[in-house]
Amino acid sequence: MTAREAGGDDRARHLVLVGLMGAGKTSVGRVVASRLGRDCVDTDELAITLAGRRFDEIWADGEAAFRAWERQAIDVATASPVPLVIACGGGAVLDPHNRSVLRAAGIVVWLRADVATLVARVGDGSGRPLLTSSTGDPHATLARLAETRQAAYEAAAHVAVDTDGRSVEDVAVAVLAAARIDPCPP
Ligand code: S3P
Repeated sequence: MTAREAGGDDRARHLVLVGLMGAGKTSVGRVVASRLGRDCVDTDELAITLAGRRFDEIWADGEAAFRAWERQAIDVATASPVPLVIACGGGAVLDPHNRSVLRAAGIVVWLRADVATLVARVGDGSGRPLLTSSTGDPHATLARLAETRQAAYEAAAHVAVDTDGRSVEDVAVAVLAAARIDPCPP
């Protein structure tokens, strides 16, 4: 159910993008934000700003340390009185607190993609420690994450958009349609 169906005003709420690494959350988020005349907040970038440290420095303290900053970033972004586009890190939906905060604060759109598509988009996985530090095999890691996280994405999202074979622009249009938000006139 969208906020409009629930009697709310989608335009006044955040538009949240979730999905696995390589789903296109940040690139689609920027296009959607520009169509809506909003800012796009990437939770990885906000976590870095809040921590005052580089991403690799935070991650060096362990995944749990990163997740704590990610949770804070989600709390800060969703508390914005100005409606934003919020592009979440791929694992943000694993935390039940994040799921409930995101769903309450906006329309949550799950960008879905086949594992082969995700692998093609993430390349060698550089900058993404979960892809470089485990098996060294991005395909195997993304296939495992797709399976183990499926339920969390389903629980987090109000609506899903398939991105395979589609351009960033095309997905952005589909996201706006799925979230039932009309773009701002040019
Ligand atoms: C992660 C995804 C990354 C980043 C971190 C962990 C994950 O964000 O938050 O490396 O657990 O899937 P992107 O999905 O933007 O790559």
